[in-house]
Amino acid sequence: MTREIIVDDTYARTLHRIETAIAGEADANRAMFETVRILEESLPDYAWVGVYLLYGNELVLGPFVGKPSPHTHIPLGRGICGAAATEKTTIIVDDVNADPRYLACSVETRSEIVVPIMQEGEVLGEIDIDSDRVAAFGERDRRLLERVASLLAPRLATLPR
Ligand code: SME
Repeated sequence: MTREIIVDDTYARTLHRIETAIAGEADANRAMFETVRILEESLPDYAWVGVYLLYGNELVLGPFVGKPSPHTHIPLGRGICGAAATEKTTIIVDDVNADPRYLACSVETRSEIVVPIMQEGEVLGEIDIDSDRVAAFGERDRRLLERVASLLAPRLATLPR
C-alpha cells in the first residue's frame, strides 16, 4: 500500500515536471529532449528513453537518453517501433527476446514500451522506452506516456517534414 502511494506520487510528479517543461519551452527539439531527460531521471526502470519522428515511411531517431542505438532509421514495417506506428497504438512487450518483431538495441534490454505521438489520427512520431527488467511497463506507464505524447504532439506538428 505504502509503495503504491509512493509510486503513484512519482508518476504524478513526473507528469507535472514534464507539463511545466513543455509549457516553458518553445523550441520543439528542446521540449523533446527535456521530456526524455525527465523521464529517464525520474523512473529507475526507464534505462533508454527516446523520441522517433516519422518522415514518410521511416522513423528517424530524435532526442534520446541512454546508449547510442544502431536503429536510427526504422522503416514502418519493422520492429516494435514500426508496429506501434502502423497500428497507431501503444505496444508493451514484457519480454523482448520472445517477440520476433524486436530490433535489439542493447543486450541488457528485457522489456519495451512504444507510444505513438498522434494529432488528428495522424502519427507524427513516438516515445520509445527500454528497460533492463522483464515486464517493467504497466498501465501506469501507458497512462503517463500517452498523456506525455499528447503534450508533445502539437510541438512535433510544428517541425518541418
Ligand atoms: N527495439 C526497437 C528498436 C529501437 S531501440 O530499442 C532504441 C524496436 O524493436 O523497434
